[in-house]
Order: sequence, then C-alpha cells, then structure tokens
Amino acid sequence: MTESLTVRDNRTGMEYDVPIVDGTIRAADIGQIKAADDAPGLAVYDPGFVNTASCRSAITYIDGDKGILEYRGYPIEQLAEKSSFLEVAYLLVFGELPTKEQFDKWVHAITYHTFVHENIKGFMQGFRYDAHPMGMLMASVGAMSTFYPDAGLIGDADNRHLQVVRMIAKMPTLGAWSFRHAQGKPYVYPDNDLSYTENFLSMLFKMSEPKYAADPRIVKALDTLFILHADHEQNASANAVRAVGSTQVDPYSAVSAGIGALFGPLHGGANEAVLRMLKRIGTVENIPAFIEGVKAGNERLMGFGHRVYKNFDPRAKIIKKACDDVFEVTGVNPLLAVAKELERIALEDEYFIKRRLYPNVDFYSGLIYEALQFPPEFFTVLFAIGRTPGWLAQWLELTTDKEQKIARPKQIYTGPRTLDFVPASERWA
Ligand code: CMC
Repeated sequence: MTESLTVRDNRTGMEYDVPIVDGTIRAADIGQIKAADDAPGLAVYDPGFVNTASCRSAITYIDGDKGILEYRGYPIEQLAEKSSFLEVAYLLVFGELPTKEQFDKWVHAITYHTFVHENIKGFMQGFRYDAHPMGMLMASVGAMSTFYPDAGLIGDADNRHLQVVRMIAKMPTLGAWSFRHAQGKPYVYPDNDLSYTENFLSMLFKMSEPKYAADPRIVKALDTLFILHADHEQNASANAVRAVGSTQVDPYSAVSAGIGALFGPLHGGANEAVLRMLKRIGTVENIPAFIEGVKAGNERLMGFGHRVYKNFDPRAKIIKKACDDVFEVTGVNPLLAVAKELERIALEDEYFIKRRLYPNVDFYSGLIYEALQFPPEFFTVLFAIGRTPGWLAQWLELTTDKEQKIARPKQIYTGPRTLDFVPASERWA
C-alpha cells in the first residue's frame, strides 16, 4: 500500500503527492498547493482543532470509540486501582514507573516543597471574600513566576525538573488556601508527615486539633480522582499550556493559562455546572421536562458528551465506584438518585444515542465532591490539582521536541481592506 495522498487541484489541473506518516499529512505539504505562483498556499480550516494533530506525544493514549485511556501505556483502570497519585505523577513526568529509590526521592522532593513563600499567603488574603477559587489559583500560580525568576531558564533540564517538583508540591497548598479563604478560615500550613492527599485534606479541614486524620476511604477516593484527572492528551487546557509554553515563557505562566482554560464550563468547569444543574432539576419528576429543554436546544446536559469518547468515558465508570466508597463514609448524596435517573433516561433517548453522548468524567465527580463538603466553585480546583502533572508532562515534552515552533495558527481574513483613515477631528466635525 502506498503511504501517500494524491491531490488534484481543479483550479489548475495540477496533481500533488503528499506523504502520509502516522495517519497524518503535513499541513505544510498542503501549503505548496497554489492557484498561481504568487498566490497564497492552500491552508486547512479547522476551528477547535477537530481534526488537526498539533504534536507527537508519548504521554497519553486515548481510543475514543473503544473507551480506552492509558498513561504511558498503562490502562487507567489498573492505575486507579493499584497505584497512587504521586506514582502516576512520576510516570507521567518521567515516562516510566519509578524504582523504590526513585519513588522515595520523588516523594521526599514533593513533600519538601509543599510550603509557599509567605508573601503568596499575603496576596491571596487580598482577594475579595467571594473570589472564585479558580481565579485565585490561576492568579497565584501565575504569580509564582515572580517568586522563581530562575524558572524562565527553560533550556536547563535540572531547572525544569525543579519547577515541576515545585508546582506539583505547591498546587494543593494554593488550592486549599483558596478554599479556606472563601470560608473566612485561617490558612493551614502543610503537614509534611502526611501523604500528598492526606496533607491536602488537612490543609482544607483542620481546625484546632493538633493533627488532622482523614478517613482512609476518603483519602483513597480523592487520590483516585486525582489519578483519573492526571492527563488527557491534547485537551483544551493542555493545548493552552502548550500554546503559551511554545513562546518559551516560564512554566508557571504556561500552567496558569492551562488553569484558565480548565475554568471554562465546557472543560473542567463542567463538574461545577453538573451540580448546579442537578440542584436545579431537584427531583426525579422534573427530569423529563429538563430533557425536553435540552433536546430543544435550550441548554446542554452538562457532564454528557465528549470530543473524543463516543462510546463511554472509562473515567466515568471508575468514578461511579469511588462514589459508592465515599457515600459509605458520608451518607448518600440525595442528588445521586437524580443523576442516575437522568443518565438512564438520556441513554435511552434517541437524541443522545444518535449523537453518541455518554456521561463523562464530570457527571459523577461533582456528587463526590459535594458529599465531601466542597462547594461547587471549588470542584474545578480539585481537577486542576490532579491535572498538574499532566500539564507539566506536556510542557516538558514540548520543550524538548525539536519539531515544535511557536503556536501561531492561520486565519481566514473576512474584514474590510485598504480603507482611508479620516482623523477623528474631521470625522466628528
Ligand atoms: N447536551 C446536549 N447536546 C449535546 C451535548 C450535551 N452535553 N454535547 C453535545 N451535544 C450535541 C450538540 O448540540 C451537537 O448537536 P447537533 O449535531 O444537533 O448540533 C452534537 O451533540 C455534537 O456536539 P459538539 O458541540 O459538536 O461536540 P464537541 O465535541 O465540540 O463538544 C463537549 C464536546 C464536551 C464540549 C460537549 O459534549 C459539551 O458541551 N458537553 C457538556 C459539557 C461537559 O460535560 N464538558 C466536560 C467534558 S469532559 C471533561 C473535560 O474535558 O473537561
């Protein structure tokens, strides 16, 4: 079989052979096709990058039709059951599972870097009492670049590694403080005797007790949720990290762009939107009318549908199990009944079947978060903490990929041309 594409330009009658490599053609090869020698090359129009590969990546594999998700080749189901978030973070960042010695060193480094500069606490306290925690997280991660000006030396591998460790270590501290801030409670410093996820829970919930002891089932469920969110190949926020990172800016600036992308309700903000939707529906009896509204195009069924998964989202399956574990500790969230019935009705409805819309990772995660007493606006912060190793793995891959360039898409210009400018003094006379 010839691995090439023959394109005939009917404007000129010319034929071009374009090589196919790894199931793709290079946009630059299409660019050589011109209607005339001095005409611009043919370009590809793809809003939302629906069918455009922006990089080669060896981090995460997804088969959307089969519902497969693998980090560095390991199935998500096995990692969620048998690994820990910090081990998965190591796997994503380094590409291989750690030896015992490598893992101990990694955990020690992450633990050692959990504290943030006292001035970061100072400016976080300056936010309004009702500041959205995602806005606080985005701003404080971006601001970290001012505390670590060496982070701009992205050509140095050791330096890159140091920033990766710092960011994974400090994200729970910043996240927890954005939570305490909204509650008017004092910020809690990290407790480095505790595991990554235990320490996070301690910074969230500790009051006057000398040591916070979280229920191990809650620790395991939250750790699993972090694993499920750790990477998802070229999603909107990874793409934002890569686009901003392609300018060779420091990784704090790049990751804060990723946090901005994750904030949106079509991406990580969906878990918050799901919970607000479930609360609005309220009871099982109101579901049919709600579904009719969705089908009429009035709104979307949040937590349903995915750009890549067209059969099921493997993360959603694992989350359902985590739901049971958490509810064993907290008692069942009454909105679970609404969610389950909503899922049942939607999965039998022609509208959703035809469009291949299934529950995604955000459909059930919000119920767990609410049972853990998190307000909806905090849900996406949890997603961001989990996604941090993924963003950093994507950023590391970008910085060492010789094929990468500054991200700079083309446009199709549709505005006016060559107008004559009339100064304001004449226009307004
Ligand atoms: N509810 C109702 N209709 C939907 C939904 C939905 N949740 N999602 C897609 N559709 C319809 C859409 O209206 C369109 O219909 P038509 O062909 O008649 O115009 C068709 O399905 C295809 O939708 P699309 O918008 O072209 O699909 P997309 O791949 O661009 O969007 C998505 C993917 C995730 C943004 C979208 O499914 C959505 O908005 N879902 C709700 C938000 C959500 O749950 N997001 C979390 C995604 S998973 C976690 C993450 O990545 O952060």
